[in-house]
Amino acid sequence: MTPIEQVIIDKKTDINPIWIMRQAGRYLPEFREIRKLNPDFIKLCLNDKLSSEITLQPLKRFDLDAAIIFSDILMLPYGLNQKVEFKKNFGPILGELDIKELLKINEIDFVKKVNPIYKLINLVKNNNLTRNKTTIGFVGAPWTLLVYMINRQSPKIKLKDDFFDDQVQIDKILKVLEKFLKVHIKNQIDNGAEVIQIFDSWANLLNDKDLPNYVYNPTINLVEYIKSQNIPVICFPRGIKKYKEFCEIVKPSAICIDYDVDPAQILKDISIPVQGGMNPKVLLTDKNNLKKETIRYLDIFKDHPYIFNLGHGILPETDPNMMDYLVKTVKDF
Ligand code: CP3
Repeated sequence: MTPIEQVIIDKKTDINPIWIMRQAGRYLPEFREIRKLNPDFIKLCLNDKLSSEITLQPLKRFDLDAAIIFSDILMLPYGLNQKVEFKKNFGPILGELDIKELLKINEIDFVKKVNPIYKLINLVKNNNLTRNKTTIGFVGAPWTLLVYMINRQSPKIKLKDDFFDDQVQIDKILKVLEKFLKVHIKNQIDNGAEVIQIFDSWANLLNDKDLPNYVYNPTINLVEYIKSQNIPVICFPRGIKKYKEFCEIVKPSAICIDYDVDPAQILKDISIPVQGGMNPKVLLTDKNNLKKETIRYLDIFKDHPYIFNLGHGILPETDPNMMDYLVKTVKDF
C-alpha cells in the first residue's frame, strides 16, 4: 500500500504523507512554459501527452506522495456539450445551457469527448515517478458543478438572485450530473486512479437548511458509488463550517479541511482521516514562519491519521523553493 492508502485505509498515524492541491500549476516555471505555448486550457487538458507531463512535473522536483491528475472539474460540463472557456485574469466562462441538448447526451459520446483524460491517468499511473505513490483522480461535487453550469462563471461572493427559481430545471441537471459523474469516476478508476477527491468549492454559498438537498444527498450518492468500487474517497466541502455534521452524514473515507476551520476543533470532532488545512498564504511568508505553521498542523494531528496538504490550492505567486522547504519539513517531522 502507498503511504496515503496506509493513512486512509489502515488509519496509520506515524507517517505524514504529503501532496498539495494545484501542485501541478502556475507557480512552476516549467508549467508556465508549456502553458504559454498552449493558450487553450481545455485543449491542453485534452492533450494526454502534455497533461501527463504536467502532472508529473512536481514529482520531479519534490518528494510528494501523490500525483493529482492535471485536469479540471469543468471538463465534465465540457463533456456534456456546454461551452467552457478560460479567460485570463477572470476564470472560467461557460456557454448557454441547453437543457434539451443536455438530456440527449449519451455515455459513448461523453466518453469520446473526454477520453484523453483517461489516457493521461494511464500514462501517469504507469510512469516510474509514481511508483509507491498514489494517483489521485477527481471530480467536482454536483452542487459546485450546478453552480458553474447555471451561473456560467465563478460566483465569487454570491449566487444570482434567481438561481433557485427553476427548480424543475435544477432537478434535471442534478440527475444528468449524477449519471455522468459516475461514468467519469468509473473511467478514472478503470484507468488507474487509486483515490478520488470530490471538490465542493462552493459549499460555502448555501444556507444550512439547503445543505442536505444540494450538498449532503448528492454527495452521499457519489461517496457510496466510489466505495463500492473499493476506492477511497476524500471530500473537500470548502468553507462548509459544519465539517462534523458533513462527516457523520456523508461518511467519506477522509475529509479535506479548509484554512478557516480550527484544526484543534476538527481533531476533537472528527474520527476519520483528515487532510489539509494550512493557509496557502503561509508559503508567501518566510521559512521560519512556514516551518512553524507546518509543525503546528503536524503536531495537532500527530496521533490522528493525517495527510498533509493546504486548505486550498497553492497560489500562483508561490516560490517553488518554499514548496521544497515545506515538503522537507513534513518529511523530517
Ligand atoms: O490540483 C491540481 O494540481 C490538479 C489540477 C486542477 C485544476 N483545477 C487545474 C487548473 C484541479 C484539481 C482543479 C479543480 C478545480 N477547477 C476546482 C476545485 C478546486 C478549487 O480551486 O476550488 C475549481 C473550482 C475549478 C474551476 C476552475 N478552473 C477555476 C475557477 C479556474 C480559474 C482559476 C484561476 O486561478 O485562474 C480554473 C483554471 C485552472 N484549473 C488552472 C489550473 C492549473 C489555471 C489555468 C491557467 O493556467 O490559466
